[in-house]
Amino acid sequence: MGFVINYAHRGASGHCPENTLAAFAKAIDLGATGIETDVHMTKDGRLVLIHDASLKRTTGINAYVKDLTLDELKAADAGSWFHKDYKGETVPTLEELLDFVRTKDVMLNLELKSGIVQYPGLEEKTVETVRRYKMDDRVIISSFNHYSLVKVKQIAPKMKTGILYSEGLYEPWVYARRLGASALHAAHYAVLPEFVQAARAVDIDYTPFTVNDAGVMARLLAAGVAGIITDYPDRLAALLSLKGS
Ligand code: G3P
Ligand code: MG
Repeated sequence: MGFVINYAHRGASGHCPENTLAAFAKAIDLGATGIETDVHMTKDGRLVLIHDASLKRTTGINAYVKDLTLDELKAADAGSWFHKDYKGETVPTLEELLDFVRTKDVMLNLELKSGIVQYPGLEEKTVETVRRYKMDDRVIISSFNHYSLVKVKQIAPKMKTGILYSEGLYEPWVYARRLGASALHAAHYAVLPEFVQAARAVDIDYTPFTVNDAGVMARLLAAGVAGIITDYPDRLAALLSLKGS
């Protein structure tokens, strides 16, 4: 087994409020070698890291990201919903994350949330920001919106992209090649060992999400996946160290 990327899903979101700097720092402490996060855009065009299009679930504020300026969004408490110890965590900007990981040896999986809200220029701004930080070779951009992935490849042909899907896509490695993608980011239950092998044969990686059960992790590692996205990077790190990977 080669090197398998241990992606912390929304940071170490099993331990900390998702998509906060606390969750990203915790991920690295727990042995993650990658961070997965979700990218949206504010009313004033700033890229921010939050899972939902709305702030309701993780800050209590009944508003959409697209309708708030960055200053307004930064006033929201993104930590207390998880635990009072995290009161004062804010919704980070993409730049804050890039500043944080600059000196750390981790990969980044930026998921463009262009499903519910179509943010004008989301793809261009994400590529521009990654390039400004010279992190192109440490980033893979994924999305459930595959039009966004095609756009990314048009803007930045060398940028790696990953196709997100949940179930039953027929021969997705053929589709991935057609889109110029590097990887399939599939729901773990849609990943069979023969799929991983067929994808590998045409140079496409599998990186399943969201895998929190050690037994499922072990099955996927045996199948030869290139990475796993988990809320518990500590669990995956323990398995990988047992296997000497
Ligand atoms: O990128 C993997 C995973 O994050 C996709 O689903 O809804 O958790 O963003 P979601
Ligand atoms: Mg995500």
